[in-house]
Amino acid sequence: MNAMSTTMILPPATLGMLGGGQLGGFFVAAAHELGYQVWVLDPDKNSPAARSADRHFCADYDDFAALDEFAAGCAAITTEFENVPAATLDYLAKFVPVRPSGSAVAICQNRIAEKSFLRDHGLSHGPFAVIRSAEDINNAAPTLFPAILKVARFGYDGKGQATVVNREEAITAFARFKGEACVLEKRLALDYEISVILARDQDGRVCCFPTGENQHTRGILDVSIVPARTSDNLRREAEVLAARIAEKLDYIGTMGVEFFVSGGQLVINEMAPRPHNSGHYTLDACVTNQFEQQVRALCGLPLGEPRAHSVAVMVNLLGDLWFEQRAGGEHYREPDWSTLYAFPDLKLHMYGKHHARPGRKMGHFTVLGSDMSSVLETALAARRAIGIEGE
Ligand SMILES: Nc1ncnc2c1ncn2[C@@H]1O[C@H](COP(=O)(O)OP(=O)(O)O)[C@@H](O)[C@H]1O
Ligand SMILES: [Mg+2]
Repeated sequence: MNAMSTTMILPPATLGMLGGGQLGGFFVAAAHELGYQVWVLDPDKNSPAARSADRHFCADYDDFAALDEFAAGCAAITTEFENVPAATLDYLAKFVPVRPSGSAVAICQNRIAEKSFLRDHGLSHGPFAVIRSAEDINNAAPTLFPAILKVARFGYDGKGQATVVNREEAITAFARFKGEACVLEKRLALDYEISVILARDQDGRVCCFPTGENQHTRGILDVSIVPARTSDNLRREAEVLAARIAEKLDYIGTMGVEFFVSGGQLVINEMAPRPHNSGHYTLDACVTNQFEQQVRALCGLPLGEPRAHSVAVMVNLLGDLWFEQRAGGEHYREPDWSTLYAFPDLKLHMYGKHHARPGRKMGHFTVLGSDMSSVLETALAARRAIGIEGE
């Protein structure tokens, strides 16, 4: 038996997933297809992944009695939720392999730790200051403004962020965030944004999926275009940087790295210690998708081939679509999905969430093809057909 096979976790082993959102749901599907069972721990009784899991622990991430029982039944544990307490991952790691590690997740879940990590490893990042008091705002370099103030913890989809043009606005926003620790980032002029999703195995091998180009609307990912319309040089550079980050974090699993391209240069924006929304196109367009790669890395299997077999454009479907403006006010109703079924090259994925809210990610679709301009045209036509406004 070689060294690798001794550490493989094989079906029908039970895998543990912390977090029951759509990312967890896709993990359950990928693990089931490979023959594994999955237990999901999430405090929400209606979480999407709980529907398909073999067992749902409806418990908080710091419910140690539940964690004990969870760990006792799982051969290995991973997460889909970057805000799972790092202490929970460290605790579970006493009993079973936990991948990625608590220390890697701790860095990615705190913007101060994340930016400091990038700075300390000489990895390209934008100008920033750590803000723990109004005094820190007064001491920040004037060249940081106009800036974005971001809470260090628990921000997502543009939440916990304020655009501020000067110190006064920054101080007001800091007070609105109740004095929580923040980073103040210089607001950069973006040419465009890209992301690299990669998987890294326990032996340090890295597989990058094709780099995507991401368009955000109101701070939320709207459209991903793959391959990104960028140069081969920038694409290579982004892959090298993403792989270096994973290596420095000693990361095992699937991770997403978001980049800005500003003045033709790559700037690392942030890392996600889990599969990434901009990697959803891999479900339909790649030989191996980002969730299967997460299962493979977790279980010590060889990573799968990440190659894309088509051009892909993914469009997010937010809860706003459920709200129709009518004379007499706003009306809640199901969008007319038949408008999307009319596109034969479109793959629709709904997450099974019980209730729509504006800005909530409810599903996505990916249009596939061989020619970027026609795939993009079809995706935008489908986006209009279902009722998403703006270009
Ligand atoms: N420093 C910045 N300069 C310009 N745009 C920014 C900056 N920071 C964030 N943005 C815009 O806001 C989006 C969301 O910010 P991000 O820091 O990635 O937070 P989230 O955790 O919500 O994804 C980015 O993808 C980008 O479009
Ligand atoms: Mg982001």
